[in-house]
Formats: sequence, C-alpha cells, structure tokens
Amino acid sequence: MKRHATVALLAAATLAVGAVASSAPSTPTSSDEVALAPVGPAPGSNVEKRVDALLERMTTEEKLQQVQLLSDGQVTDEDARKGVGGVFSLVDPARIDELQHIAVEESRLGIPILFAYDTIHGYRTIFPVPLGAASSFDPEVARTDATIGARESATVGLKQIYSPMVDLSHEPRWGRIVEGGGEDPYLNAVLAAARVKGAQGDDYAARDKVVTSVKHFVAYGQPEGGRDYNTTDMSESRLRNYYLPPFKAAIDAGADTVMCSFNSINGVPGCANRYTETDILKKEWGFDGFIESDYTAVSETRACPPRKPDEGPCGHGTAADGPEAAANALMAGTDSEMVSTHIRDNGAQLLREGRISRARLDDAVRRILRIKFRAGLFDHPYVDQAEAADESSFLTDDDRAAAREAAGRSMVLLKNHDATLPFDASKKTAVIGPLGKDQHSVLGPWWGRGRDEDAVSVFDGVSEQSPGATYAEGCTLTPSEPPSNTPEDECASDAGFAEAVAAAEAADQVVLTVGETREMSGEAASRTTLDLPGRQEELIEAIKATGTPFVVVLLNGRPLTLGDVAGDSPAMLEAWFPGVEAGNAVADVVFGKVNPGGKLPVSFPQRLGQVPIYYNHEPTGRPCDVTQKYNSRYRDLRSCDPLYEFGFGLSYTSFDISGLTLDRRTMSRNGRVKVSVTVKNTGERKGDEVVQLYLRDPVASIAQPVRRLRGFERVTLAPGQTQRVGFTLDRDDVGFRDNRGKLVVEPGEIQVYVGSSARADLTDSFRVR
Ligand code: BGC
Repeated sequence: MKRHATVALLAAATLAVGAVASSAPSTPTSSDEVALAPVGPAPGSNVEKRVDALLERMTTEEKLQQVQLLSDGQVTDEDARKGVGGVFSLVDPARIDELQHIAVEESRLGIPILFAYDTIHGYRTIFPVPLGAASSFDPEVARTDATIGARESATVGLKQIYSPMVDLSHEPRWGRIVEGGGEDPYLNAVLAAARVKGAQGDDYAARDKVVTSVKHFVAYGQPEGGRDYNTTDMSESRLRNYYLPPFKAAIDAGADTVMCSFNSINGVPGCANRYTETDILKKEWGFDGFIESDYTAVSETRACPPRKPDEGPCGHGTAADGPEAAANALMAGTDSEMVSTHIRDNGAQLLREGRISRARLDDAVRRILRIKFRAGLFDHPYVDQAEAADESSFLTDDDRAAAREAAGRSMVLLKNHDATLPFDASKKTAVIGPLGKDQHSVLGPWWGRGRDEDAVSVFDGVSEQSPGATYAEGCTLTPSEPPSNTPEDECASDAGFAEAVAAAEAADQVVLTVGETREMSGEAASRTTLDLPGRQEELIEAIKATGTPFVVVLLNGRPLTLGDVAGDSPAMLEAWFPGVEAGNAVADVVFGKVNPGGKLPVSFPQRLGQVPIYYNHEPTGRPCDVTQKYNSRYRDLRSCDPLYEFGFGLSYTSFDISGLTLDRRTMSRNGRVKVSVTVKNTGERKGDEVVQLYLRDPVASIAQPVRRLRGFERVTLAPGQTQRVGFTLDRDDVGFRDNRGKLVVEPGEIQVYVGSSARADLTDSFRVR
C-alpha cells in the first residue's frame, strides 16, 4: 500500500505542474514510468481538454479496456490494473475502494473505474416499485425515491445507477412492466425526468449524487407475446410518439448514460442498432454521454450454430461471430460492453482489418471519460469507508418516513362498496392471505440492498394500528424461481382455508392480502395469465362467505384480471409492491390515516384476450360497438372497455371537476392555450384528486390516438374546498412526431377533455391555425 501512496503523490505532483501529455501512445516499460505518467491536465481545466489530453496518451489496449464493463463476479485486480472502464453489481465498499486504488494508483494512466448498480426503486431504503410510484401521479414520489437511492448508492462508492427504466409498455404479460411507468408516454416522461433530477441533482459530481442510465434503449417494453427479451416489431410512428419520448425527457433532464436493449427492433438488435443509437440518440438528440450494452447483449447478436462450448450467449444472428458482433455494436454506437468481452478481445484485430475505425473507438472512450470527469471521479475516486460502514448512513428514520409516504401515495383504491373502507382500527382485525406476513415480496423485483428483515409486513403494520390483530395464511405462495417452483405449487392447497375462515369469522373486519410473489414479476418473469395465481380467488370466495367485511389488498407487479375478484369483494386496494414500509402504508390507507389518491398508470383488462389494451390507441374505421357485427369488437365480450381504465382510482371522499375554460379559441402554431378547471372536494374527508387533461386531434394526416394525456396535477383538498387547476398547452402538446422525428403541428381542431381518468368527459375544443 505504501508504494501506491507514492505513486499517487508523484502523479499529483505531475498534475500540479500541468505536464503536457505526449501525443504518441506509449506502453509503460517500468514501474518508474508508471509512477511518472501524468494523468491529465490540472483539475479545474475544462472537461473536454482533460479528456483529450488523456485520450492522447492511451494505447489501443487501454482504450479497449476502457470500453469494457465487468460484473462483480468477473472483475479481478488485474482488470483494474489494466484499466477496465466499469464494474457493476459490486456493492462492498471495501472491495470497491480496493479496486479503485489499484485502478488509480497501479494502472498506467490512473483512470478511475465507474462503479454502477441497479438502484431502481431504492438501494437500502426500498420504495414502491416504479409502476406503483407511477400510480401516485406525483413526480415528487419518483424524485424522492431517486434522491435517497442515489445518496445510499454513492455512500458505498457507486457513481452510476441503471435507472430510470422508462420502457413504456402495453404488455401486462411482460414481467418488467413493473419497472416502468406504465402505458403512457407523457406520464413516463414526467417521472423519468423527476428520477434523473433526484439522482443527479444539478451536478452529479456531488458526493451524494450519481449519474443515471436511462434504459432500455429502445422499445423493449413491447416484446411479442409478452415474453421477455423477445422481438419488437414497431412502426416508426409508434417508436417516435410512444417509446422514445420518455428517453428524450430523461436525456433533457440530464441523464448522461443510456443502456441499449436486448430486443431487436424491426430485426436489428438494440445494441447493434445504428439507427436508434447513433442517428437518433447521438445525432438527432445531441447526446454526448455513453451507451452501455445490456448484460451480454453484444454477444447475443451472434448467430448460435455452430457453437463452441465457451462462446457464451448468442441468438439474434445479425453477426456471424464475436468479432463481427463487436464491430457491429461499436460501429452502431454502443460505447461500452457489459459482461461479454468481444470488443475488448477483438478490437485490436478489427482495427488492423479496418472493420472498426479508430475514430469511433476514440469517440466511445471519449464519451466514457467525459462522464467520469463530470462525475468527479478523477478528483474524488475513493470511498469514505467510515461512512460506508456506518449503518446509520442508510435507511434513516427520515428515509423510512419518505418511503412510507411514497407507498401511501402510490396505492389505488379500485373498489369501495358502501364505504367499506376505511376500517375502524379499534375493531378486531384479521389479516388473512398468503402475503400477510410477507417481508420479501413487498420489496419488489429490484430490491437493491433492501433486506427482508427491514420490511414491515402487512400484519405488523396492521397490528401496530389495530392491536390484537390475528393472522391466517390461507395458502402459500412460494418465493422461489422456476424450475424449482412451478405455477402449480402456488396457493395450490385449500388446507389452510378453514383456519382462514375461522379467523375471518372471529374478526370484525378482514384485510385479505393476495397477489404475486416478487419472483412472478420483473426480469424473465412473463406470465400467460393475469389471474391471481393458484387458488387465491377461491380463498376470497371463502372469506366472502363468512359475511365479515373485507378489503382485498393486492400486492403485485402487473395489471391483473380482477373481474371475479371485484364481483366478490366489497373493497379492493391496489398496493403494488410497496417497499420497505409496505405494512405501515397499507395500514395507513386501510384505517384512513391516509386517504388513497393514486390512479392507474396502466389499463386493467377484463380478460387477457383484450391485451394489448391501452387508452391511447388509434381510432379505427369501425369503432367497437357490441350491438353490431362488423366492427372492432370481440364476439364473446360485451364491451371493449378495460375493467379499470388508465387514470382510474377512488378516494374516501368525492370530487367534482367543473368550469372548464380555455383562455382562447385559436392557437397559432407557436402559441399557447391555457386550460383551467375547478376541482371541489364534495365529500367529508380531506383527500387527493388527480386532475387529468387529455387531448385529441380528430383530423390529422396520420391517425392520432383517441386521447393523449398532456397534463395532470395531484391536489389535496379539505372537505368543501375548491381549487382552480390550470394547464398551459403549446405546440409540443398538440403536435406529433413524423417519421424523421420532426414535430408536426397541423391546423385544425384540438379537443380537450378534463377529468379524473382517461374517461374524462368535461370537454371543449380550440383550433390550431
Ligand atoms: C437487465 C438490466 C440491468 C442489467 C444489470 C440486465 O439483465 O436487463 O436492466 O441493468 O442486467 O444488472
């Protein structure tokens, strides 16, 4: 260690005199040369100059190391010594620091490593899953989650997070729908920007900030059949108007890294896609950060057969072999390769053969170095071990309080017949159901460093507020992965139903916790049914038969088909996977401390066969009419509607939205229209309403969606209180993107709808001229 310190001092001395980098890349021959090598111009000079100076000194081998991103399981001291660019999933602060010391003090140029992690909805303080946070219709929820997640991540030495995940999706079978903001581009965009700002602040070099990586670029949310990683075939119009806007919003908010996706888009894999990576992201949008591949995604572009045993993942078949995969990925715009090592291993040969250009390799390295400089890594590479080892740096009381509030704000009241809820906490409460004592699934499928033992179960949260609460599991959902656990194992037996029924009979009210395990959601967790797994519906029927009032509390990560459950249940609360404060937040809502105000960010179908079903669909020449034959309907379903539409959610109070006014009837193409409404709390409790504004362009050169969300505001009102809510619309709101990404604003009528869900019926219109 002593020698390392000497090296650092020498490097610093060289820095101080502002040594000029030599232009020819040199290879070190002795440790003296290592010690004397300047690592770039003095701190304080601008980033681009520092990048250029460093780049000039790099050998090809060093550049190829810099574009390599290794996992915690892969990386060795030797990789750090050679100058590996990034490491992910390593969270031990001592090991992070150790590798960083090697990189900074023993690698020839002392370039620090960028350490990254999947802090998706929390690092140690686990917030609601992103689909839940989206239900809050409150960017502050997303921002707070990212702020705390960034601070906790940075404390252990991480400087990049693989978040926000902004994959819009119309595909509830896809397990990863849980990680994004649902089916709407505008809501996704607002939340993406909030997450980026929360994690990065104004300057992600700050010690409690990290650079965000927005993912998965792009259109990963629409895999055919809902199977993860599967093909996406997508029109340019869809890509431009639905799938790209959340990415653009994240980039505009400052996201400086992007992860390209596993899927192919119209036949071209996301990490070898020159059109999306270079033409759109880098050229059209001017993105100057770097793109890392998803896990082995570069390797997966290779054709599989004939396969050598050690060759690793393959499949897409747009490259014959590793070298070709490397060349395609790099030349398409991928700057950093995660896990597989084709660019690093074949880069020198590819350069010699002219299959990759030096300019492009330099560009990739420049982008990576730029972000490292912006992140302040060259100035503060090391981890404060005392702080990182101090338990009180994580999951503080304030963090827990924020997670509890976020979870409460994320819950959606789907049904509340005869004001079943809120329950009276002084009455006898039974918690029933397979997830009632769960401290595992409530953390969701990206639990970071969250610990099951930190999580408050629904039973514990309910007991805290309704002392003496009882519990019966009813049946078991097993928290494990296939193939050790198959769907047939889930809540398969009714052996525990009698005990559950007895508990319900002995209680005044029942909190019935059903749903999915966290293993049923997230990556590689697609399902062919959206029903509650196993015999959970039968359990609900058994509880119903007791006559004891009950609420079904749903803990899950995707839209479910809840028609029968809704038929059986007086009250239903969609709690998603609420995070570390799950039980407290559920109890807050169930007992009325918190009045639910969340809204669905995604449509809940009546039946799986309606999928894809989303509110912002285009019109057809034969709109659904179940009383007629030749139109766009199902012959075996009496409506084309979802069970619960986008934007839907109830409250313990009621609201009235009225008085829609527009400040003008015509808008010039560069002008603005201000839309206002009055919202009134017409009930007897304080509560939240999300006022939602939708637009429709009824006549356009490309058919426009029947509605598009273009504004929302969550307001809190006391009983009888009114508030005026205003939205300002401009060209971005009334226009659409053409196939080259240009905003098209066509003259004509724009219809306005304002209300409390996508069914909003307060309407007016104006003209664009
Ligand atoms: C996922 C990414 C994640 C990466 C690194 C991949 O399998 O698709 O979302 O960031 O792993 O953990």
